[in-house]
Amino acid sequence: MSSNMFDQDLIRKIRENVDIVDVIGKYIPLEKKGKGYFGLCPFHNDNNPSLSVSREKQIYKCFVCEEKGNVFTFLMKKENISFPEAVRVLAQEIGIDLGDSFKAKPDKNKAYYDIYDITNKFFQNNLLSVEGAKAREYLLNRQLTMETIKEFQIGLALNSRDSLTKLLTKKGYDIKTLNDLGLVTNDYDTYIKRIIFPLSNSKGEVNGFSGRIYNGENINKYLNTKETPIFKKGENIYNYSRALEEVRKSRYVILMEGFMAVIRAYTIGVKNCIATMGTSLTNEQINLIKKMTNTIYLCLDGDAAGVHATINNGKILENMNFEVKVIPLNDGLDPDDYILKYGKERFLSLIDGAISYNDFKIRNYKKGIDLNNVTDKTNYINLVLKEISEVKDEIKREIMLKNLAKETDMWYNTLEKKLKELLANQENTKIDTKNIAVKPKKRLDKYEKAMQIIIYYMLINKDVITLVQNSGVYFPIDSYRILAREIAYFYEQYGYINIADFNTYIEDNKEIDKVFKDIMVLDLADRVPDKVILEYLDVIKKYNLELEIKRLNKLIVDAVSIDEQIELSNQIRKLKMGSEKNDK
Ligand code: UTP
Ligand code: MN
Repeated sequence: MSSNMFDQDLIRKIRENVDIVDVIGKYIPLEKKGKGYFGLCPFHNDNNPSLSVSREKQIYKCFVCEEKGNVFTFLMKKENISFPEAVRVLAQEIGIDLGDSFKAKPDKNKAYYDIYDITNKFFQNNLLSVEGAKAREYLLNRQLTMETIKEFQIGLALNSRDSLTKLLTKKGYDIKTLNDLGLVTNDYDTYIKRIIFPLSNSKGEVNGFSGRIYNGENINKYLNTKETPIFKKGENIYNYSRALEEVRKSRYVILMEGFMAVIRAYTIGVKNCIATMGTSLTNEQINLIKKMTNTIYLCLDGDAAGVHATINNGKILENMNFEVKVIPLNDGLDPDDYILKYGKERFLSLIDGAISYNDFKIRNYKKGIDLNNVTDKTNYINLVLKEISEVKDEIKREIMLKNLAKETDMWYNTLEKKLKELLANQENTKIDTKNIAVKPKKRLDKYEKAMQIIIYYMLINKDVITLVQNSGVYFPIDSYRILAREIAYFYEQYGYINIADFNTYIEDNKEIDKVFKDIMVLDLADRVPDKVILEYLDVIKKYNLELEIKRLNKLIVDAVSIDEQIELSNQIRKLKMGSEKNDK
């Protein structure tokens, strides 16, 4: 957790001097309504003010996309910066000199990024030089304008064995480092006579290159940076940082296979595209995408490999709770080819007409199937019925079923009966899991609410912390118990407590961050009498008591001797009496 590297006095000083309403107000106009301020949410494509900012609590929340946090989180998200950087920005604003402290974490890889930065500039210059004429011609032939070349920082590795090696060693970088970084191989330049596409990490820092042949040479089309301390192929996503803003606005991201496709889409104004480097998605990449959005459109190449990749990736993504749509391209075209062949408008309408992942799978089942062959036909019908059974919308299911009946020349009623069977089966398995998982949770609702309310008041009134500690109450859910303990700890350590600062303090603590975020946006009165808190504490105590009695009752059933049973009954009676006394 970040608590030890975390200067609470500084955070407090910043908090006392900046107001979240002013800070957010610099980015978006805020209007006062009742107790809060409202504006268009910058984290999704908002057309109705749904971002609410609270001056009292110093937090913000969007009712639509559910973004929430304090002044630091706002800057981190909006500017794509780290926590220390956000602290620096705000400190500067109120004129606190931080000296060297609170610089972004001293990055041990900084020298590596510097080297990549120098190299990237060198390659870009080469492309503009006399020697770059052929490569420029190649790019212009592919209908990339100088503007696009500049935007994507496309460059050129010269037809020379050591121009880069010389440049970098002259600057004092040792050859071993350059080797480790993949820029030098066996004492010579790795990239020779290739058009260079820089690759970058999620912050937009260049950390690798992909070099393409351009003169008909008979070697690997693309040469990619090897795995280095700052470049892992499976963690990189092409165009991630450039697309981030656009994706937050459009609320979906388009995944493509190659970076030429991404660049081409950009030139027609479709700027929310990213690409893996021709590989299937890794968990690291999926987690990065999750930070952008939950809705993903797959627009992979329109060949057999692309279809295969669409099916595979779609499944992985659905399992990770993405909403998956597909933009199918035919005739083996990739998005780049498609746009060049059919133009901007047709590609845009293809995006608008993106189909669901289910529909895509159904289309695919039909390929290579002979509906006059009984086995083929039966298989096909069963596969499609299974897809239909997974569609939630009843009307859509009926439409799909009608289409299937028509297509396969079957009785609608026969298919409907089959579908109902499938649905009933699904329902059964669902109920089974419900009985195990949901029931105890439902019962917890009231107690969970009580815990949330108590924790809320612990955060805004230090006296409640003492009240809770003195009560000796035990929170029966781990995340709440840990949260309450952290609040008490924060208060002990720093002598004060408020929602916004505590939010910063637990930012990295995944275990409790989620429940905390739910609690901090509760809309409750600023203050309640102690009596109310005590009542909520009682609610939890009663719940614990019930649990304990249940446990003892179970033991009675299993007890081997009558003595034991009597002893347990006595314990239960005592517990019950104790709670009644408390009631009076
Ligand atoms: P493609 O062969 O579809 O390339 O590979 P492309 O994007 O259409 O590029 P152009 O139009 O031929 O210039 C898709 C992706 O697979 C990776 C690259 O990342 C590429 O963008 N790839 C491909 C390699 O890494 N090495 C290769 O030799 C080929
Ligand atoms: Mn291509």
